[in-house]
Amino acid sequence: MKIKGFIFDLDGVIVDTAKYHFLAWKNLANSLGFDFTETQNEQLKGVSRVESLKKILAWGNTTVSDEKFQELMTLKNTEYLEFINKMDDSEILPDVPRVLDYLIDNKQGVSLGSASKNAKVILEKVHLLSKFKTIVDGNDVSKAKPDPEVFLNAAKSLNIKPEDCVVFEDSVAGVQAANTANMISIGIGSKDVLYEADYIFNDFTEISTEFINKIINN
Ligand code: BG6
Ligand code: MG
Repeated sequence: MKIKGFIFDLDGVIVDTAKYHFLAWKNLANSLGFDFTETQNEQLKGVSRVESLKKILAWGNTTVSDEKFQELMTLKNTEYLEFINKMDDSEILPDVPRVLDYLIDNKQGVSLGSASKNAKVILEKVHLLSKFKTIVDGNDVSKAKPDPEVFLNAAKSLNIKPEDCVVFEDSVAGVQAANTANMISIGIGSKDVLYEADYIFNDFTEISTEFINKIINN
């Protein structure tokens, strides 16, 4: 078997944390006197914490001082972490461990490429941290997806060329980042949203061993 690098996004691919981001952002928006909808939350998938807050404040026609901005970021993350601290293995999305274990058993490079600064905490909570050879997260990058920095760094950390890497992503920005990095992009979610990806599956239960073998040996 050939060796490829498999880079996993975290939120929406390994665990469904979008619901916790939503609750924390909604409470924050409400405390500032405006609402925040699930549709708006969709647009924040893959978007960094700073950029998310900028968008939310713009939607609420609100401007704040730099100091207040930092305060709001901390407030949101503190509430988000309260949800994260209650997480356990039951929140891992279906068949993610099967695919991870298959890749590891077949000596493939496995890395995390996430915008989240909470990635390690979340992986620890769901007991998946040890599955990843390397982790590149929001603490390691200066440019947010759709910039390819996070995935290029992950490829480098695995010592595998970008064109030999495969990315699992649930966000449009993430699929675009993978494509720009010259990697194979696998969208996890709806075809209507992720149509720019090379392959699209609703979830990992649809990803067969045959498919993975084909990707590895291509
Ligand atoms: C991404 C999520 O994975 O991480 C975004 O899709 C989130 O919704 C971003 O804003 C940053 O996460 P965190 O945990 O650093 O606030
Ligand atoms: Mg995601």
